Amino acid sequence: MSRVAVVSGGSRGIGAAISKALKAAGYTVAATYAGNDEAAGKFKDETGIAVYKWDVSSYDACRAGLKRVEDDLGPIDILVNNAGITRDAALHKMTIEQWSAVINTNLNSLFNMTRQVIEGMRARGFGRIVNISSINGQKGQFGQSNYAASKAGDIGFSKALALENASKGITVNVICPGYIATEMVLAVPQAVLEKSVLPNIPVGRLGQPEEIARCVVFLVSDEAGFITGSTLSANGGQFMV
Ligand code: CAA
Repeated sequence: MSRVAVVSGGSRGIGAAISKALKAAGYTVAATYAGNDEAAGKFKDETGIAVYKWDVSSYDACRAGLKRVEDDLGPIDILVNNAGITRDAALHKMTIEQWSAVINTNLNSLFNMTRQVIEGMRARGFGRIVNISSINGQKGQFGQSNYAASKAGDIGFSKALALENASKGITVNVICPGYIATEMVLAVPQAVLEKSVLPNIPVGRLGQPEEIARCVVFLVSDEAGFITGSTLSANGGQFMV
């Protein structure tokens, strides 16, 4: 039986590429999505990948949703915490709603999702967790105190979790994508993209979602068992740590 992988935010953007790459690599995949029924339906029809709708910022929704996935597909071996949003504004203009939405969706979701599957992974002696952070959690970004805080938090969470589970056959790693050609990045004002993003990417282009998906396929493989607690930057040379 093939291993079961859950990809949050897995029907659009980087998440869709991850879901498709995992399916192509032989995994049974469940892609979660928050609200865009039309995109999720189209994704399901095109790929044959099962889609599940729930809000990853809700602990109870994650518990019920992941239970449904396990009832349908079997125990979850691989969790990719990819779902994320932006609500960009300089802090002096940011509302509590913008702050909370981003922290709840991008950071609290890692607790909400991972807490449901970690005991099963420990009991079975195998697990792969990949958290999708961001270059902006590493370097900061004007207008993103909420997003940068959440994405930096994802990195700390992953390192602690890696330590706690290293002896149980579970690896936990983080990928920090740079600017990838998705709806999220293309929503950045064109002038900002042209003046302050693209000129700072040494390879001279935005990344492609598939380039992040390939990193995930590598990290979740059985052969990657010695890699845990690591932060993999895939940003075209824009920021080196
Ligand atoms: N660095 C320095 N100064 C900046 C700046 C920057 N990056 N961006 C804006 N400013 C300055 C402006 O020059 C302006 O200064 P003056 O008043 O002296 O002219 C001032 O800040 C206000 O700028 P705006 O008029 O643009 O202010 P705003 O409040 O309308 O918008 C913003 C500010 C929301 C930050 C907007 O500029 C923006 O959306 N920027 C893009 C932020 C960004 O890159 N987000 C990444 C999204 S993609 C993503 O997050 C995926 C990932 O993981 C990589």
